[in-house]
Amino acid sequence: MTDREQAFGVYIHWPFCLSKCPYCDFNSHVRREPIDEQRFTRAFTAEIAATAARVPDRTVSTIFFGGGTPSLMQPSTIAAVLDAVARHWPVASDVEVTLEANPTSVEATRFRGYRAAGVNRVSLGVQALDDRALAELGRTHSAREALDAVGIARTVFERYSFDLIYARPNQEPKAWAHELKTALAEAGEHLSLYQLTIEQETPFAALHAAGKLRIPDEDASRALYDTTLDLCAAHGLPAYEISNHARPGGECRHNLVYWRAHQYAGIGPGAHGRLDIGGVDGEGERHATATEKRPEAWLSRVETQGHGLVTDDVLTREERSDEFLLMGLRLVEGIDLARYAEIAGRSLDPSRIAMLHEHGLVETTDAGRLRVTLPGFPVLDAVVADLAA
Ligand SMILES: C[S@@+](CC[C@H](N)C(=O)[O-])C[C@H]1O[C@@H](n2cnc3c(N)ncnc32)[C@H](O)[C@@H]1O
Ligand code: SF4
Repeated sequence: MTDREQAFGVYIHWPFCLSKCPYCDFNSHVRREPIDEQRFTRAFTAEIAATAARVPDRTVSTIFFGGGTPSLMQPSTIAAVLDAVARHWPVASDVEVTLEANPTSVEATRFRGYRAAGVNRVSLGVQALDDRALAELGRTHSAREALDAVGIARTVFERYSFDLIYARPNQEPKAWAHELKTALAEAGEHLSLYQLTIEQETPFAALHAAGKLRIPDEDASRALYDTTLDLCAAHGLPAYEISNHARPGGECRHNLVYWRAHQYAGIGPGAHGRLDIGGVDGEGERHATATEKRPEAWLSRVETQGHGLVTDDVLTREERSDEFLLMGLRLVEGIDLARYAEIAGRSLDPSRIAMLHEHGLVETTDAGRLRVTLPGFPVLDAVVADLAA
């Protein structure tokens, strides 16, 4: 798919978890009472219908159930949501349908049901392959249990991926290299490897502020990143995005929709969307949408007004071109400079590109695309800020 061909993704957010991990600031909530999945199914269906009424002429190329913990949903709920998507939009015959799952034995028992419902890819939040680290991360599964879930995913789904978090408190480079080698031996076509981010207002942020969480400094993090790149590339899973590694062809197509600045519908509490609607230039104006975050408030809104939107802003040229840079430069394939110029109404400043080039932070590919070099990835934000200035 080129930059101009438009993929269209549908993101569905399940906002519940069994417990809240102390590092996580995703829109996820813990409830004592059982969740009324039928009520949620009706609300998801209504919001899908309302979104499709705004952008009817799209073919769905990817669907992603994210969370929270979507692997707490009943397979029949997933099937009903997928039916609703297919009633409102044409769905590509090779649609990618991903579900994020926590790697516990309970959840793995539902994998066959998800497969039968139409899910063809799972992404498991393994996070660590060390029981002590898992306990520190507040996870409720052991490394063994997680690897067993990976094994089941491998037999049930055509495609699977799992996530690890590194640059964790007190993590030694040697231990990370060992853990990553174990992970690579279990990996299919895709791995997501995230450096621990201390997110504001999480228990980890409070511990960090109190000096009780020793995380690797900039140099140590960089060394861990270099080890990650080297080991993954040697195993045939090179980075295709700053934190994502895949065999060529095994990339997560849904996440590519975000990074290539294509369009996606955001369904469910706190979901974000990007939709091109109306406009005079043939391409439409790009709307940035967001729904109510609180699950019960989102349900009430959908039940009274047919959708949960609380934000529906038309992006300015500048906002759109900044987003194009910010997302596109995360990718090893980089960005099409001509496409940037079309969106921004101006070209990137050649002298800024030349300066970053001299510092070895960006390069131009044979296809004439601009990309951040692997050594430039750890300072990506600074590179983007410089180019966008
Ligand atoms: C929506 S979350 C998790 C999906 C699923 N609930 C789970 O925990 O397995 C997606 C991924 O983001 C990553 N993540 C969440 N918080 C993070 C943080 N503070 N730093 C780095 N990675 C984080 C984790 O690897 C997680 O699997
Ligand atoms: S990391 Fe996953 S399980 Fe933990 S709180 Fe966040 S979304 Fe829930």
